Amino acid sequence: MAATGAAVGLGNIWKFPYLTGEHGGSAFVLVYIVCVAALGIPMMMAEVMLGRRGRQTPVNTLRTLAAEAKVSQGWQVIGWCGTLAGMLILSYYSVIGGWTLAYILYSATGTFSGITGEGASALFNQFVQNPAAQIGWHTAFMIMTMYIVARGVQSGLEKAVQYLMPALFGLLLVLVAYATTTGYFWQGLTFLFTPDFSQLSGTSMLTAMGQAFFSLSLGMGTIMIYGSYVPKGTSIASTSVSIALSDTLVALLAGMAIFPIVFANGLEPRAGPSLIFETIPVAFGHMTGGLLFGTLFFLLLLVAAWTSSISLIEPAVTLLIENYRMTRLRAAWWCGMVTWLLGFGTAFSFNLWAQVRVFGMTFFDNLDFLTSNLMLPFGGILIAIFAGWLLSPDTSRTELNIASPWGYSLWRVLIRYVAPVAVSVVLLHAIGVL
Ligand code: PHE
Repeated sequence: MAATGAAVGLGNIWKFPYLTGEHGGSAFVLVYIVCVAALGIPMMMAEVMLGRRGRQTPVNTLRTLAAEAKVSQGWQVIGWCGTLAGMLILSYYSVIGGWTLAYILYSATGTFSGITGEGASALFNQFVQNPAAQIGWHTAFMIMTMYIVARGVQSGLEKAVQYLMPALFGLLLVLVAYATTTGYFWQGLTFLFTPDFSQLSGTSMLTAMGQAFFSLSLGMGTIMIYGSYVPKGTSIASTSVSIALSDTLVALLAGMAIFPIVFANGLEPRAGPSLIFETIPVAFGHMTGGLLFGTLFFLLLLVAAWTSSISLIEPAVTLLIENYRMTRLRAAWWCGMVTWLLGFGTAFSFNLWAQVRVFGMTFFDNLDFLTSNLMLPFGGILIAIFAGWLLSPDTSRTELNIASPWGYSLWRVLIRYVAPVAVSVVLLHAIGVL
């Protein structure tokens, strides 16, 4: 349940639809689904397994397991790289989390009532173009995250997630139901599910794969931390499959809700990060009870973002606590400060620095590319090699404890060959080496 809470977040509802739109729809979705099934599930099983065996922060888990497997301590790099990736991701995640906060307020005060597509775009543009507002909301979201991390009381939040996540799911269904009334539902479905391979470039494939890692929280050690709490008797395989299924379902539902609204209102599927903030208000602005449902929706999206943000920074905080003997409060303070400051780069990417381009991309786009498309897949390759080649088969067989021998062999082929090769090929192809 807790890992599902960490996996389901802005990645599913904000990022998946906008990337799908930017990369032309269906073919991107197909590659994404294939990546979740063939790479994501075996990778998640590997991470949960390593975490359960190591039972520490990722850096230290890798140290212990590398010693056990009698291989170089250099494998700790997986932990370091993932820990850094988590902080980098949180720095921009928090800015978008701030948008969600602001949208709760907009919704509750009736701003969306009767709003048109054009009106929603204008509202969003006006909002992001104000640097002070961006910093303010980003700060608020960071405080919320660090408050929980500093107190180390995740249990209350995890209990809340048990009820709030199904509620979010329910509201997504309400949005999909609204989408069926727009007259453009089929067009939305066609866009999502009728593969058009002409749209598929190397970068699109890499982005789809990176999104699979991002959405499942893989390649950075978060899942290892959750794995370290998994009791011995629990089946790692079925837990991983169920996390992956719910995560994907939420993303697909978000897509099914959003694209019909995009087409019905003459909005641009390639709008980018603003996509859900320009479409969802239109839906709530036109349905009965929209004020209540809309406010609730952004509130639940906030909770989803919140649980994910905690798991993004937890590896860094536990590292400082375990290895540098810091108190939790101090560790949280330092990690939070650094991440918060870095977030300014993203907050300004939509206003003051919108024209500043490196490699043709804004600060935010560069950070996102670096983390989702390079660091997470790279971490994934290393984790796959470690789990598939270096950890003894006896260990992985006992830890995974899959009933059918066939299931274990399938996992082993996927993790030893398919995952490292496929991820490397896509990675090298997209950066122009292959
Ligand atoms: N999976 C989260 C989401 O979809 C983001 C995340 C990535 C969380 C990596 C933790 C680690 O929003």
